Amino acid sequence: MSLLLPAPDGFARLENLIDGKRCPALSLERLASVDPSIGETWAEIPSSGSDDIAAAVDAAKRAFSGAWSDLPALGRAGLLRNLAGLFADHASELARIESRDNGRALAETSAGDLPAVTQILHYFAGAADKLMGDTVQVSPASFNFTVVEAVGVVGIIIPWNAPLSILAAKVGAALAAGCTVVVKPAEQASCSILAAAELFEHAGFPPGVVNIVSGLGSTAGDSLVRHPDVRKISFTGSTATARRITAASADSLTQLAFELGGKSANIVFADADLDAAELGVSTASVFTGGAGQTCVAGSRILIERPIYEEMVERIARRASEVRIGDPMDLETQMGPIAFDRQYDKVRDYIALGSQEGAEIAFGGRSGEALMGAGSPHAGGYFVEPTFFRDARNDMRICREEIFGPVASAIPFDTEEEAVALANDSSYGLACGVWTSDLKRAHRAIAAVKTGVVWVNAYRRIHWALPFGGVKESGYGRDSGLESLRGYLHTKTAWIEL
Ligand code: NAI
Ligand code: MG
Repeated sequence: MSLLLPAPDGFARLENLIDGKRCPALSLERLASVDPSIGETWAEIPSSGSDDIAAAVDAAKRAFSGAWSDLPALGRAGLLRNLAGLFADHASELARIESRDNGRALAETSAGDLPAVTQILHYFAGAADKLMGDTVQVSPASFNFTVVEAVGVVGIIIPWNAPLSILAAKVGAALAAGCTVVVKPAEQASCSILAAAELFEHAGFPPGVVNIVSGLGSTAGDSLVRHPDVRKISFTGSTATARRITAASADSLTQLAFELGGKSANIVFADADLDAAELGVSTASVFTGGAGQTCVAGSRILIERPIYEEMVERIARRASEVRIGDPMDLETQMGPIAFDRQYDKVRDYIALGSQEGAEIAFGGRSGEALMGAGSPHAGGYFVEPTFFRDARNDMRICREEIFGPVASAIPFDTEEEAVALANDSSYGLACGVWTSDLKRAHRAIAAVKTGVVWVNAYRRIHWALPFGGVKESGYGRDSGLESLRGYLHTKTAWIEL
């Protein structure tokens, strides 16, 4: 079974999944999906509107009150395991579709994301029969207990940087909890999720349990948020859009969970293993296969003064060694930016950094100037790993999320100063600490105001560990048993004896 069949004109044409049926948008309107490595359309997806969303929510609501809710926990677990197996069978095709659609290096999607998708689904299959309430001993005159119940229909809104792994984390938890879902993938990279719709059907989920509807955020996304029968929205994306969603949910009082952006700091102390730190703060953190389009990108590199010059030199060399090119080539370490508007945004920030007085230690080129006029990728959205030195934390390049392969080095003198700089941000997603001093590591873990802290590691994300931020990086958690709680509410019972 191939998940993607090109139409006679050469474009892959994908459909929504609503109530167990593959269908175009009711309006028949479509959006072009661009291959960012060449800047040309390669597929078409439904441009769905409020009527498509209404049909999907209606199907999810009917499924929730139907056979799905009667299924024992092991039944849900079995279907999730079937799904995990199907994702494993189709991993290489799905990795290729995702890399073609969003430009993320196939080396990363095939070795990282797709194997993780299978594990995430198995993890939540294992969690499905571990939902528990409490008995609470209030008085001998009453028997008091709680049960947890699925919240109902969940709207899941996904960004373009890592569609399938974010889908697995949110949908896996929601289905394990017993919810039904309507998924709205990002308009710039919907193809891998729409292609995977096929797998939900084959896994045996009853119609309407999982619905997938592509379209613009301002139309399809907004009507999903406003729909009165959607009990919860789980969203990953920008802080600006999270604010819009918060305002749009005021009437329905829909529960919200937000995994938003970041401006994460990587703190390198002079006592660190500098070889490990050099790799950890560069290619593992921000000069990634997805060209730094990761919410945890360590875009502020704080370096203790005695090792500042040496580290700047090491990071610049690492940046210069990154192999940029065709994301489908397994030798490629960094693909293009995912779409034109984001490409312009990243290049504008690179220009801004120089205007603000930071100095480019390496990088700065993009497009044809980087790839060469004769290259098949001259029209792609490629940006060189770009590393600014001597930045200040009050510069916009150090305050605003760039979401590209751009990092800035800032020197510091004391541990207190480093922690203060790391925390001086409106965001609070992640922080990296590089040190060989165990006491300092513990002090830093306690002092940084983020949802995730890595010590002598970076961007290590695991399905069993809760993931999310504080401050303007959002609230609620993906992954771990904690994420399951987000799809459940607690009912309290009192029996008078
Ligand atoms: P976005 O937050 O607007 O898009 C994410 C998802 O939200 C997409 O599915 C989109 O269709 C949907 N959406 C947009 N407007 C909506 C609305 N009013 N109601 C409901 N859903 C809506 O992000 P965008 O514009 O694609 O990227 C802008 C910036 O956001 C990036 O430059 C980056 O800084 C940040 N970002 C952060 C991500 C993360 O992983 N935390 C992921 C994607 C973007
Ligand atoms: Mg695309």
